[in-house]
Amino acid sequence: MTSPLELQDIAVEIATEAGELARRRRSEGVSIAASKSTIADIVTEADREVEALIRDRLSAARPEDGFLGEESGEAGGTSGITWVVDPIDGTVNYAFGMPSYAVSIAAVEGPVDPGEWRALAAAVHAPALGETFRAAAGEGAWLGGQRLAVTCEAPAGALIGTGLGYDPRTHSGDLETLGRAMPLARDIRRIGAASLDLAFVAAGRLDAYFERGLKPWDIAAGRLLVDEAGGRSGWFAADGFGRHLAVVAGPALYDDLRAAILG
Ligand code: IPD
Repeated sequence: MTSPLELQDIAVEIATEAGELARRRRSEGVSIAASKSTIADIVTEADREVEALIRDRLSAARPEDGFLGEESGEAGGTSGITWVVDPIDGTVNYAFGMPSYAVSIAAVEGPVDPGEWRALAAAVHAPALGETFRAAAGEGAWLGGQRLAVTCEAPAGALIGTGLGYDPRTHSGDLETLGRAMPLARDIRRIGAASLDLAFVAAGRLDAYFERGLKPWDIAAGRLLVDEAGGRSGWFAADGFGRHLAVVAGPALYDDLRAAILG
């Protein structure tokens, strides 16, 4: 059986190659290929090309494993392991020339559902930031040679990341939720790439992060980073728009934040 560390190495190698392709395409100019659910929910030609590269590399390295990608959907495997991939997380940042975008690759075991799977390995590679976050189950979360740790003391005022859904019908509800979290916050960040929000919580750059409506590929790699950095994470029941709530934080803040958000 392949160890989580071996899976992590595969994720890092492929995410790095994919990130270089994304960066090269960015420097050649970006074309928005389509809007998906709403005008804010875009896909570029690069998203598709980068996902195709990742899919090819994974099927060569791990032919028995399943695959779930943001752009090309799901293919079952026979090993019980599935690779969950966001080729360019933070596509809006990418399209606008902001550096906060990342290739997110995770290997998970069990049902392909963030509430049920067991994450084994993760890589979040941000080519324009020059950073690659990685984790393997039981082996910690790392940035280069630095082992990552979430904020462990209760912050006097927390720096909290969040995101707003792309569907305008959800905005007032999301702003209400944000209002409930504000008493715990020093300030709020909307970074625009869920995998980086999660990586930044793992690295102690944010104290917490929450968002409704993340997809499996947005959360798979980053949540393992947080868990392996000593954080707590939850994936809560869907709202009336079918959007699950993700909450992550250091142990001293998690219960208070979850209680504030859930009302
Ligand atoms: C999106 C980003 C964004 C989050 C959205 C995600 P994408 O992913 O992570 O920060 O608010 O919920 O869908 O579309 O850029 O891959």
